[in-house]
Amino acid sequence: MRIDKFLANMGVGTRTEVKNLLKKGLVTLNDEKIKSAKLQMNPEQDRVCVGGQQIDYEPYVYLMLNKPAGVISATEDDVHQTVIDLIEEYDHLDLFPVGRLDKDTEGLLLITNDGDFNHRIMSPHKYVTKRYYAELAHPVREDAVETFEQGIRLTEGLLQPAQLEILVPNNHARVTICEGKYHQVKRMFHAVDNEVVYLKRDAIGPLELDHRLKTGEYRKLTNSEINLFKNH
Ligand code: URA
Repeated sequence: MRIDKFLANMGVGTRTEVKNLLKKGLVTLNDEKIKSAKLQMNPEQDRVCVGGQQIDYEPYVYLMLNKPAGVISATEDDVHQTVIDLIEEYDHLDLFPVGRLDKDTEGLLLITNDGDFNHRIMSPHKYVTKRYYAELAHPVREDAVETFEQGIRLTEGLLQPAQLEILVPNNHARVTICEGKYHQVKRMFHAVDNEVVYLKRDAIGPLELDHRLKTGEYRKLTNSEINLFKNH
């Protein structure tokens, strides 16, 4: 890998900032000062320091994205912009989204290159909850709370119990589910004679969307956020 790419991917700075650090002679590779941004290095073996501080190679990346509407949850697509297209760094890593949100759904989407992490969150046996904020075409009927709790029957079978909280105004609601069937929340509301007009995921298990992230923005998960899913 090129040294400038390694340093940018490890979050030291943009490619331009990294080039300036190299020019200033602040970067060493195995204790030798280097200036060329094109120099090839091995991230697993070489020791890189910037201003004397060692830059550790992190093979796995864990990002929280506030997904905007209009972008699809896939790694590549010939026509549409994908959530991976929104990520500017880490292009040497095979990043993918953890599960899917519909094209028009916004909110919390995790992005990683760690297959085990993906499995711990997505496996139906792990029962990791997903919480959504929904705006509906009509007021939500009070009896929908019990219908959701008892499990709605879709063509695939009976859903797990889901929690429905009717908000104010009463065409706004919060729904917590522990599966990820195709268009699940939209179809659940359809089953109680309503229609979702806006949907946003705001939590996955104990992890809440960071409300400082505007739609389209992302940040790395902290170690304690990553560890929330380690014992699942
Ligand atoms: N349920 C839906 O209907 N859409 C989503 O994007 C996520 C859950």
